[in-house]
Amino acid sequence: MKERLRLRWGIGRALPVILIMIVALTGCAQEQQEEWFDPDDVPEVEVSGYTLSLSDGAVVADVPYVRCVVMEGDEFTILNFADLQIGSSEVSGNAFSYRFLKTTTSSLVSKVKPDMITLTGDQTYGQRFALGRVCEHIESFGVPWAPVYGNHDCDQLSMSLAQQSEMYRSFEHCLYADGPGNLGLVQSRRSPAIGNYVVNIVKIDGDNFRVVRSLIFLNSGNYQNYDDSEHAGEQRYAGHNYAHLNRNQLNWYRQMAVSVQNYGGGSPVPSTIILHMPIFGYVQAVSAAMNIDADVYDIPAWLSRTQKISLEESYDSSYWKAGYEGSFGVMHEDICGPPYDDGVLDFIVETGTTDMVYCGHEHNNNFSITYRGVNLNYTMKTGVGCYCEEDMIGGTVITVASDGSATVRHVLDLP
Ligand SMILES: [Fe+2]
Repeated sequence: MKERLRLRWGIGRALPVILIMIVALTGCAQEQQEEWFDPDDVPEVEVSGYTLSLSDGAVVADVPYVRCVVMEGDEFTILNFADLQIGSSEVSGNAFSYRFLKTTTSSLVSKVKPDMITLTGDQTYGQRFALGRVCEHIESFGVPWAPVYGNHDCDQLSMSLAQQSEMYRSFEHCLYADGPGNLGLVQSRRSPAIGNYVVNIVKIDGDNFRVVRSLIFLNSGNYQNYDDSEHAGEQRYAGHNYAHLNRNQLNWYRQMAVSVQNYGGGSPVPSTIILHMPIFGYVQAVSAAMNIDADVYDIPAWLSRTQKISLEESYDSSYWKAGYEGSFGVMHEDICGPPYDDGVLDFIVETGTTDMVYCGHEHNNNFSITYRGVNLNYTMKTGVGCYCEEDMIGGTVITVASDGSATVRHVLDLP
């Protein structure tokens, strides 16, 4: 009897604990299911183009997510900062990483004298205090600046992307725009497909204007669940689950690239895609271009060779295969984008006018390879936030000429 009572009493006390554990585990499973889904499940929507006109000496669009900046001379210089990854604790005290970041960026700005600054994502971990301080610092340079979201920008639930959007838009020189708003979710309810927008570099001559180059900013999201059984026969690159762009974003990108062709003054208008995570084409490009005796899908074997090549050595054409001698930069870690071919490079090539992509995300990759007519770039890691190699910290400079052509170079934060 005593034994039975003890058993009942034991079950009585254990039951609430068991129930709480079941609820917690179920909740986690639901959370996981809600958070990550296939972007291909997003319902397809109609996307439309835009028109530009000259008004009071400025070029304006008929939609709020297309902005214009003016090229005054024969060149327009963009300085990119990548993966600052600053947390609130790092800006609240005397943390070294934020002080180092401020010194690095200030020194790069005085060295490069950019007409515009771009930020390829992972500025912070989504904490209000950190993002506010980073924005204030970038704004202090007094030039137009344009960020994209990275996967870590929505790590912390303290600030949704909508709240981050509001903060970006409160800064006078920040060109950020949410985008058309109907592009669907990007893999996560924390990461809606906002932050897709366009900045056109324009030349104005009296009552005439033309677009020299169009910059198309995309939110590359964060993660998704890949069902490997749906990719039977395809080789998986790496074990991670980074997201791919959804089809609405791609269709919208194409509309943007096509619309701007009306304003080239008789010449095609080239475009650059700027996003945080690499597209799958980066895997194909590095495999085609790097003079490495290994299979790119065999990541340990591949990296054991590529990690031996320093940034300085990478400028030597002997590290590149025939036809890719103009490439430079290193691959010291695996490519953390979609593990299966996302078809984005094919889509870009078919669109026909985009000749450049640049992204951030990997701190120790900074290669620049022109593959299938598209210059695919990793930008240089800026500051020491999260992880880095100390001799590969700096910025990336994109120089746009008045004929629209653009070149890329890395600038190190070294004396
Ligand atoms: Fe990232």
